[in-house]
Amino acid sequence: MDKGIFMHREELDEFVEQVTARTDLLQIVQSYVPLKRKGNRYWGCCPFHGEKTPSFSVVPDKGFFYCFGCHAGGNVFKFLSLIENISYFEAIKLQAEKLGIPLPRRQKSPQEIARDKEIADLRKVNEMARDFFHNCLTLTRLGEPGKAYFASRSISAETIEEFKLGFAPHAWDKLSTAFLKRGVKQELLLSGGLAAERQNGEGVYDRFRNRIIIPIADERGRVVGFGGRVLDDSTPKYLNTPETVLFNKRRILFGLDRAGRAIKQAGYAIVVEGYMDAISVFSAGVKNVVASLGTAFTPEHCKLLLRYAPAIYFCYDSDDAGQKATIRALSIVQGTGASVRVIVVPDGKDPDEYIRKHGAEAFQQLVKKALPLVEYRLQYVLKHFEHDGLEGKVKALHAMLPVLTGIREPAVLGEYIKRLAQALLLDEGIVRDELRRFGHQPLPEDNSSFTQREPIRQAVRHTDTALQRAGRIVIRLAFQDAGILQHFAAMMPLTGIGDRAQREILLALQELAEQGKNSNDTELPNKLSEEAMAELSRAMVEDLGVLSETEAYSNAVRVLRRAYLNMRYVEHSQRAAELAQQGDEAYVAELNQAQKIKDEMEALQFE
Ligand code: CTP
Ligand code: MN
Repeated sequence: MDKGIFMHREELDEFVEQVTARTDLLQIVQSYVPLKRKGNRYWGCCPFHGEKTPSFSVVPDKGFFYCFGCHAGGNVFKFLSLIENISYFEAIKLQAEKLGIPLPRRQKSPQEIARDKEIADLRKVNEMARDFFHNCLTLTRLGEPGKAYFASRSISAETIEEFKLGFAPHAWDKLSTAFLKRGVKQELLLSGGLAAERQNGEGVYDRFRNRIIIPIADERGRVVGFGGRVLDDSTPKYLNTPETVLFNKRRILFGLDRAGRAIKQAGYAIVVEGYMDAISVFSAGVKNVVASLGTAFTPEHCKLLLRYAPAIYFCYDSDDAGQKATIRALSIVQGTGASVRVIVVPDGKDPDEYIRKHGAEAFQQLVKKALPLVEYRLQYVLKHFEHDGLEGKVKALHAMLPVLTGIREPAVLGEYIKRLAQALLLDEGIVRDELRRFGHQPLPEDNSSFTQREPIRQAVRHTDTALQRAGRIVIRLAFQDAGILQHFAAMMPLTGIGDRAQREILLALQELAEQGKNSNDTELPNKLSEEAMAELSRAMVEDLGVLSETEAYSNAVRVLRRAYLNMRYVEHSQRAAELAQQGDEAYVAELNQAQKIKDEMEALQFE
């Protein structure tokens, strides 16, 4: 999506208001989650955490959703941003695009215009290069070695057509000469990574020579670079386009342009290590496959895939390096909310070799037998950790803890604890103790480096007191009516609210009110922390029981004011005790204050 840069704050507000007005929360949520109506509330199974009984609810009248299980919550754009794994603002833009509401944008600077032109030119020259290599392979005599190579790997003519595979001829400057003749500027050949400058003498020479060529596209199918493989055992085996403005290996997944729809349909993406693996797997009829480009799987890759499906299956080579890469990839994905499986390819092969040897059908069976993350990790740990001695057992146990803490269903967790204890010959109680201790520690660095969906978990509130319920009632009414906020602020200072998220919401509402804006202002969701946004949604969505809103409000105010007075009573009494100990006469005044507060608290009881 293009980055729209806005001219004025007002213009932005107007744009967001327009999109908001024409967006139907219920309809949007229902396009992702089946919901059932109960009164003015709709219920379904939460798309943000695994569950079988619905705790996810939407109240269209209030414009909020909230999950009582994982505490994700917010307005319609928050929902879109979570489910599509995009930023809040990107969600607004996505929705605007669907509705055909144009983005207001300011004039571009000359630098931006120049950059846009460079990008457009690079795209064009990449496309030309793709056709050049493909035609060279399929239409010319120079392509014969390439044809022979593809045949030797049983890659069919259809596959060559589907992936627009090509061949770079065995010559120094066929592409460069042809392109220069067609008016392509030399700088463009260089900046696009298609040619390099000659060391001695003038001019340039082709980067890709005597290699089969695999065009690499971005998710929209625009060519961004190439991979070139040698025909024999010489090195480097693969030569890729260097990093360019278009080609960023950390973000590109080979094959995503073709696999996107299949990934959505299947509900998961298969990630393999190599181009050839992706091509083979795709041709074997398993179309939801992408390859990370020989680099490690990155958080950006993960984020990209989560926009298509909530699950990722890794299918790396089964050699040592492949297994290590799998473990690394798993640690990237952990904590993102993605569910993960591992497809194990037997006998030291990569998926491509496996398919060539055993056929498509056999590979499809491997996919069906993909191991859940915990299972894979367990097998890996048991195989790779010496767990005879006590020290080894502890190490193995600790290697398992991060994945165990990710299991939400108690029955499944219990089962794994039992199996782990049995395998390590440890007492189950020890495993449980270690797990409990680990649960209180922050995740290790490499697991927490990517936290796209982490905020939801941070927002999980383990306690819910009467005080917090009261706070939410006040928030709900204050959100709907600035007069209520004023009334409440007169009853006690907003800073005296004990709950951090609730305090944040009320102070933000007050700030809006002071600026003469209403609570539906588009700024609010941007201002609030994830935790506060979830709490606000919960407040809007929660059932008040049998009470009317006004009854609930006056009860809530009483509860909160009592807690506030109590806090001040404790402060003054403590201060009095300190002063008395120091022999300071001022303690009398403090005691008087404390007593006054106490009187007021007692009076409140009879209200
Ligand atoms: N790779 C690379 N440069 C290399 C070797 C590998 O960029 N010198 C990348 C390529 O993207 C390749 C991936 O790493 O697809 C996996 O490498 P490897 O397993 O060695 O290749 P295979 O996919 O098995 O390739 P082939 O079957 O053609 O031998
Ligand atoms: Mn291979």
